[in-house]
Amino acid sequence: MSTLSGKTALVTGGSRGIGRAIAERLGRDGARVGVHYGRDETAAKETVAAIEAAGGSAFPVRALLGTEGDAETLWAAFDAQADGLDILVNNAGITGPRTGIQGSTPEEFDALFAVNVKAPFFITRLGLSRLRDGGRIINLSTGLTRRAGAMTDIVAYTMSKGALDQFTVSLAKEFGPRGITVNAVAPGVIDTDMNADWLRGGEEARDSVAGSSPLGRLGQPADVADIAGFLASDDARWVTGQWVDAAGGALL
Ligand SMILES: NC(=O)c1ccc[n+]([C@@H]2O[C@H](COP(=O)([O-])OP(=O)(O)OC[C@H]3O[C@@H](n4cnc5c(N)ncnc54)[C@H](OP(=O)(O)O)[C@@H]3O)[C@@H](O)[C@H]2O)c1
Repeated sequence: MSTLSGKTALVTGGSRGIGRAIAERLGRDGARVGVHYGRDETAAKETVAAIEAAGGSAFPVRALLGTEGDAETLWAAFDAQADGLDILVNNAGITGPRTGIQGSTPEEFDALFAVNVKAPFFITRLGLSRLRDGGRIINLSTGLTRRAGAMTDIVAYTMSKGALDQFTVSLAKEFGPRGITVNAVAPGVIDTDMNADWLRGGEEARDSVAGSSPLGRLGQPADVADIAGFLASDDARWVTGQWVDAAGGALL
């Protein structure tokens, strides 16, 4: 069923991983999807092609986040191909070096917050004039913000997602009167490039992660995308300001 037909979506970091799965899901549901990316043009083109091959409509949007004027660049590229917005998914994010508090430099910390916090803040600020009443904002958080010290090697990353959680509830209050819902989706470990260095090295890590979920398997991008698809739909019109656990029960 094309529940989102006539709607336009933008998925930051929509070219790979969870963002790609969300972009494909929204495309299948009938939305026209802006597939944002930073560096990997081939991946963005592949995602656009996959959406089109499934009968949907999509276009690439390039802007390297964490650089001067990134939000302006993104919206200029988006505006060149779309007229207004209904669904904004703030998905693009990085973990930064896995060096914990002792090994982190101020430069690495700033670079992480520039992509994970400052970029979605200003993308959203500039996007609000484009976002139609009744719209949707979905922010990608992490299960780590509700589990103290689970991965101390990426403490700055967890802090950045904590900022997004607070952003989510503040926006939900402020823009509810326009019928806009704002929610956070919080995945556990998902099988994407972000975790390739430690998760795809061998069966041991994969088995360990699978064992942390009562459902007994490793999370896949589509597991998260289907939750985002629900939050983007009219069925979720009465859900706002929520932090939605997408960790397959790993936090239980
Ligand atoms: N994977 C997990 O286990 C997990 C768990 C919890 C939360 N999350 C969150 O879910 C989101 C997606 O994660 P993922 O695992 O799908 O990541 P991923 O596979 O590494 O993909 C990252 C996406 O973001 C884009 N991106 C990254 N840095 C960018 C930059 N500086 N400028 C522009 N685009 C940039 C990438 O585009 P380019 O390739 O073009 O740079 C790519 O499309 C992130 O916010 C992440 O924190 C992931």
